[in-house]
Amino acid sequence: MTKAVTVAKLTDLEPGACLSVEAEGVYIALYNVDGTIYATDNTCPHAGGPLGEGTLCGDVVECPWHGWRFNVKTGKRPENPDLTVDCYPVEIAGDDIRVSIP
Ligand code: FES
Repeated sequence: MTKAVTVAKLTDLEPGACLSVEAEGVYIALYNVDGTIYATDNTCPHAGGPLGEGTLCGDVVECPWHGWRFNVKTGKRPENPDLTVDCYPVEIAGDDIRVSIP
């Protein structure tokens, strides 16, 4: 069962930006890809780097610690699609970014 939680405002996340947020103990990375918001788990599966503090290039985020990359729409690593991060559904309600978390 999932629960939609407001995690940020749209004004917190300009196009091309990433953001780390926490909601009810779940660490989430938000991304603005050309005006559409996506959310993944914030913890890089390599060594735990904060993906929300990475660099977004198109729809791919690069981890700030060692450079692993993940597609923020699918959670898959382009170089090895078997390596993924969880993706979370996003909805926009007015100016609120809401993420459905487990
Ligand atoms: S912790 Fe993300 S690439 Fe190493």
